[in-house]
Amino acid sequence: MPKQKKFSGYQSVKGMHDILPSEQIWWDKLRKETREVAENYNFLRIETPILENTELFVRATGETTDIVEKQMFSFTTKGGDHLTLRPEGTPGVVRAYIQHGLSHLTQPLKVYYDGPLFRYEQPQAGRLRQFNQAGFEIIGGEDPIYDAQIILTIFRLLESLKIKDLVIQVNTIGCKTCRPAYRKKLIEYYKSRQKDLCKDCVRRMVVNPLRLLDCKNPACAEIRKEAPGILDDLCNNCHKHFKGFLEYIEELNLPYELNPQLVRGLDYYSRTVFEIFTKMISPEGKAFDSALAGGGRFDYLVELMGGRSTPAVGGALGMERVIEAAKALKANISAKPKSRVFLINIGDLAKKKSLSLIEEFVKAGVRISESLGKDSLSAQLRAADKEGVELALILGQKEAFKESVIIRDMKSGVQETVLTKKAVAEVKKRLK
Ligand code: HAM
Repeated sequence: MPKQKKFSGYQSVKGMHDILPSEQIWWDKLRKETREVAENYNFLRIETPILENTELFVRATGETTDIVEKQMFSFTTKGGDHLTLRPEGTPGVVRAYIQHGLSHLTQPLKVYYDGPLFRYEQPQAGRLRQFNQAGFEIIGGEDPIYDAQIILTIFRLLESLKIKDLVIQVNTIGCKTCRPAYRKKLIEYYKSRQKDLCKDCVRRMVVNPLRLLDCKNPACAEIRKEAPGILDDLCNNCHKHFKGFLEYIEELNLPYELNPQLVRGLDYYSRTVFEIFTKMISPEGKAFDSALAGGGRFDYLVELMGGRSTPAVGGALGMERVIEAAKALKANISAKPKSRVFLINIGDLAKKKSLSLIEEFVKAGVRISESLGKDSLSAQLRAADKEGVELALILGQKEAFKESVIIRDMKSGVQETVLTKKAVAEVKKRLK
């Protein structure tokens, strides 16, 4: 048995948080906007399991990525299967695409998803071990117009939450034809600075040189400043593709910046890569750029996973980061409409009848608040007051016997007794 850490009480697991009722207004809003924006741009919803075979991520996300090397929550089942809690959504979507022969549908296939992901990272502001993404993938389209459409979709979604100061960083990392020459150039440059590199980067030079550009170590970031960019080494096709993509982005007037050192941390990308940032202030009062979304082209992934050669492009936004950014801007989002009516019941018979009375209102589309477990009139009136409802329905012993109910106007205190079968109509009349 592995050594157990000391039991630390019933706390949520490190880096994993509850989303409490008070937060749900933000989550509802983001999920609703995700669905709406996705539908506006003709994306179909897809849901894949949270668990996948470990091999899927090793192959798709890439053996030498931080995600696969350090961040996967993996385990072996009692039956001996090696499974992993998905650290990102794209491999599962591509697996589903191949497994269910979705290439037979009209191409390109445009799908979107949202849900939880798991990465064993050092938790800090904006970095969790369980977090959520909303993702969009266009599979089966090579045209750079699709790259622009992915970015536009994510951008519109961020805008719908009123997030400002958005900057889209874009780059291309070439294809199988032009990348090898660039990789060589990069290795040569970094070899000349090897003694100042961090341990990870020395290893990256051998296993995944492009990732040298992605190192967060301050000394390596300094060296990166003079590293060669790929733009000069692009083959004709990649050059044309990137130029076409930029033209679409320009046409849309999207705020973009060219970042020739943007490479992204996942192995499957080719050609276009992008990240979307906004400005945030840390709890210590420091300004920083928060990466809200990222993505790019993955033209080789479907084939790598056993399908036919199929170009594709996609991107995902981090839902927690987006909600944090929206909250920081105090974006004004409207809460779910409150109920305007409160049911008060007094006595056993009234309590018995109260659930079916609520049903009548639910069926008629009128939401009713209640405090069914409380028996005293004053406690229930207090609860009704707290809710700020306009009307209270009072169902006492006498009313329950007589199949009637009292309607009380909470503001004026005026009360009227009506027959239960007329209650819905009477309430609707008063709420107009
Ligand atoms: P990614 O850049 O790893 O890309 O993640 C996308 C977004 O998820 C990030 O920009 C960030 O907002 C959020 N995120 C990532 N890690 C964490 C974390 N530990 N805590 C909180 N938020 C996080 C992908 O996952 C690709 N699958 C995107 C894609 C789709 N590429 C093509 N299609």
